[in-house]
Formats: sequence, structure tokens, C-alpha cells
Amino acid sequence: MTVLKSGVDTESAEFLANAEAMRNKLAELDAEHAKALAGGGEKYLERHRKRGKLLARERIELLLDREAPFLELSPLAAWGTDYTVGASVVTGIGVVSGVECLIVANDPTVKGGASNPHSLRKSLRAAEIAKCNRLPLINLVESGGADLPTQKDIFIPGGATFRNLTQLSAEGIPTISLVFGNSTAGGAYLPGMSDHVVMIAERSKVFLGGPPLVKMATGEESDDESLGGAEMHARTSGLADYLATDESDAIRIGRDIVSRLNWHKRGPEPVASVPPRFAEEELLGIVPPDLKMPFDPRDVLARLVDGSEFDEFKPLYGTSLVTGWARLHGYPVGVLANSRGVLFSEESQKATQFIQLANQSDTPLLFLHNTTGYMVGKEYEQGGIIKHGAMMINAVSNSKVPHLSVLMGSSYGAGHYGMCGRAYDPRFLFAWPSAKSAVMGPAQLAGVLSIVARAAAQARGAEYREEDDAAMRAAVEAQIEAESLPIFLSGMLYDDGVIDPRDTRTVLGLCLSAIHNAPVAGARFDGAGFGVFRM
Ligand code: COA
Repeated sequence: MTVLKSGVDTESAEFLANAEAMRNKLAELDAEHAKALAGGGEKYLERHRKRGKLLARERIELLLDREAPFLELSPLAAWGTDYTVGASVVTGIGVVSGVECLIVANDPTVKGGASNPHSLRKSLRAAEIAKCNRLPLINLVESGGADLPTQKDIFIPGGATFRNLTQLSAEGIPTISLVFGNSTAGGAYLPGMSDHVVMIAERSKVFLGGPPLVKMATGEESDDESLGGAEMHARTSGLADYLATDESDAIRIGRDIVSRLNWHKRGPEPVASVPPRFAEEELLGIVPPDLKMPFDPRDVLARLVDGSEFDEFKPLYGTSLVTGWARLHGYPVGVLANSRGVLFSEESQKATQFIQLANQSDTPLLFLHNTTGYMVGKEYEQGGIIKHGAMMINAVSNSKVPHLSVLMGSSYGAGHYGMCGRAYDPRFLFAWPSAKSAVMGPAQLAGVLSIVARAAAQARGAEYREEDDAAMRAAVEAQIEAESLPIFLSGMLYDDGVIDPRDTRTVLGLCLSAIHNAPVAGARFDGAGFGVFRM
């Protein structure tokens, strides 16, 4: 084993300035996270409490084992839109009766817990995480169903919510619904498609159509209780498996259900782990606010992996990508980390070989992003940069071991793809507040547009005014800069959350533990392997 040394001078002006910039970004992030915690605001919180009800996060807290962590996912969903930050639903991974579960809880203080397009994307992402990592799914239901004004964006894709539930069940992944309040219309299929259903006397209301709708449809006079009350479902329709007396009782029953699942993780156990030899606190000062300044990812790894031990693969070849083997909270990982930004042919070939090695040894991969993309220019095109980049992207696409991605700095262009960006299905993807991701950097993008516009004007014989060009470039740069920030991308659910760099080891440890609920097996050359590599 090689122990990493770290040359970072934590007293230097540069380190202190980097840490200060990161702290400022974290403070901005805290303010946005607070909006998610505030839910529908004071008025609706108070009304909810007056009704004797617990808030979504309080329900989750009671459901979890004492002192168990909760890895909340996508808390900034819907940021930058007209909808409340958090998208009226809380999702995350927590331990219930000793079992890691995926929990989805409607926030009834935001528009009655109705699902808008962002809530839908967030809960579909949660279901995907449950499926690929084999996590029992617990729905804490209290929702007005579809957000009616935006029904066109949710009705048709939203059908997947119910299909997912039954497909999870078909794969032997348990699904549990604890119904705290309303679960009407489409929402009725949440308990309807779940393996285990708990309802609360005088609280749960589950019907396809409430009294007004029934009156309209058939003329029948009815009331909430006879159409969809908990007592009725427990005694008459049989939709409720358990009748709880109140919210705490429902949570207790939910915990009992999980304790009887006879759940076993299918991935290998971790070995005993030791902390890194360098303080995680120091991760604050490594990434410079100006991403043009390079930083050594080994300085990050020294503060991330067990014992700061890292055996580097091909350290002398393709040196702007660092590859190597480590452990994280006792789980083996292969690491691919950008060092000087640009990916050349050598880096692509090295990455491809390394990804294949990880698949041969069933080792999960961790991608640490700080790349401006693949190298452009005549020399590189003639040297085959397209086919070499394609080779790396092929390897990432067809690799079967679990992938984790962390955007530390830049993640631009096809480099984002080669490093297992969101479209490449990493099991989890998080960003640091310092990250930026877009098709290319804002200045480059504005410059390209300017060159294209100038040439088009020339071809038309039209005048090209320099002041207009400067104004256009400034506007485009500002737009692309804003759209490449992690808070914006998190709002669009392109990551699973923006995290404090100091929490990275803990977050990745929780993810690796969750991942190991499913078997871990790499791709082989037996027909289930990689596509055709262009050499
Ligand atoms: N779509 C859009 N907005 C909705 C909504 C929905 N499905 N359900 C509730 N809201 C809004 C309400 O208009 C209200 O907005 P406002 O405070 O800005 O006026 C807010 O959410 C709170 O609703 P309110 O009815 O005051 O809350 P409640 O806790 O007393 O009741 C429900 C909650 C869910 C029982 C009730 O709102 C309801 O029955 N909603 C419609 C349910 C339905 O039939 N959905 C069809 C789904 S396919």
C-alpha cells in the first residue's frame, strides 16, 4: 500500500482564500436548503400542526433507527422555478429497523403535498435509486395527488410511479405505504400497488374519487369515511393491512414490517476501515474559486480514502487523469480523478483499461470530476482523439460495477460523459459548491457564438457591429455561467444533491453501503461485456 503525502500548506494565503470562498458558497447553499426545510411556510406549517399532524421530516425522524443518519437526496429540486424549493416531497436513504430503506415523504404543507413536474422527477429518481441498489421503498403518503394546473406535464409520465412500485415488488424489493392523510385518485394506487399498507383511523383517506366526484359520476351520495376511510379499508375493502390508531402507531407498525422482511444485503461486506491521515476539514481549501487554476486530486484523495492509502495505476502515463485503487469506509473502490483538466488520447486509453480492470475485479468506481473535456486541435484529431474518447465513453457506458460521481470543479463537454456524468447512470452523483458543468465554459461558448455570427454576417454582406457583439457575448456569458452552477443543475435534478466537501467521505460511505444491498458484479467478455472498441 502507498500512503499519499499531501503537499497542501494549510497556512498559505492561497489555501485560506480558497477555504474562505468555499465557506461563502456553503453559506449561500445553507440559505437555499433552509427554504426546503421551511416547506409551505409558517401559515401552512401552523395549520398542519394544529391538526395534530407531524411534518414530513418529523415522520422520517421517528421512522429511522435512533441516531441513524439520513442521506437526503435532491433537497434543492425545483430551485430557480416558481415551485417551492424541495418540490413538495422529501426523499432519502435511512436505516429502519436495521435495514437501509429509500424513504419518500410528501410534504403536505406545500400545496397539500400535490406533485408538480419537479416532485415527479424527484420521486421517479428515488424509485430508480431503490431499484438499482435494491433498497426497500417506504412511502409516507399525504398528498393532493397531481398538481392540477400542471397536469399535462405529470399525468402521462407519472404513470411510471405505479409501474415502478409493482416492478420493485416483482424483483423482490419490498414496498411499504404508510398513509397519513389524503391519497386520492391516482394517489390511491400508491397503497394500491404496495406490498404492505398501513392506514390511520380517522386520518387516512384513500379513494379513486371523493364524494363530489362520485356525485357527478353516478349521482350517489357518499361521505369520505365510507368511500375511503382507514376503518373501511381495514375491515371492508381489505386495502389496509394494518389499522393504526395515530401517526406514531403507524410509524411503529412500519418499523415492525421492516423488521420482519428478513432482509439480507447481497453485496460483499466491507473490511474494517481507518480514517484518512489528513483532516477532512481541509477539503475546504483545495479547490480554487478560479477553476482555471489546477489542483492535485491526490490532495483530495488523501482526505477521502481509508488511511490515505492509494495505489496509483499507470502514474507515469496519461498524467492528467489519476487512476488507482483505494478503500472507502472499508469498501474497495477504483478512482478516476482529473488532474490537469484536459483529457488526451493517453488518458482515454488509460481510463478504458482501468475501467475494464475494475470490472474484472468487481470493484466499484469513483469518478472525481475536474475536466474541461477532450483535447481539440489538428494534432489531436489526427492522433485519434475522437476514437480514444469514444473508447472511454464506451467503457463507462458498458461497465457494470456501481459508479459514483462527484463534481469537484469543472465538468465540461464530452469530458462530463467520459467521467460518468448523469446520463451515464452513476448510482449516485453529487456536486461540490465549487463545481460547474456545461457544454463548454461560458467565455468559450460566447466566443464560438460570436465567431459564427460574424461569419454569417460577412456571408450576407451585412455589417457586424462590435458593440452588439460585446453585448451579446456578455449576455451569453452571464446566462451560461448561471446555468452551469451546481445549485441550478441540482434544481433540475441533474445531481442527487450539492454537498459540503467535508461531508464527501461520509456521503460516499453511506452510498457505498446502500449500493451493497445489491450484488456487485462487473462486465465480462461473455456476451454481457463491452461494445466494439475503436482502437
Ligand atoms: N393541485 C394543485 N393545488 C392543490 C391540489 C392539487 N391537486 N391540492 C391542493 N392544492 C392547493 C390548494 O388549492 C391550496 O392552495 P392555496 O393555499 O394556495 O389556496 C393548498 O394546496 C392547500 O390545500 P387545502 O385544500 O387548503 O389543504 P387541506 O390540507 O385542507 O386539503 C387536500 C388537502 C389534498 C385534501 C385537498 O386540497 C384536496 O382534496 N385536493 C384535491 C385532491 C384531488 O382530487 N386531486 C386529484 C389528483 S389526480
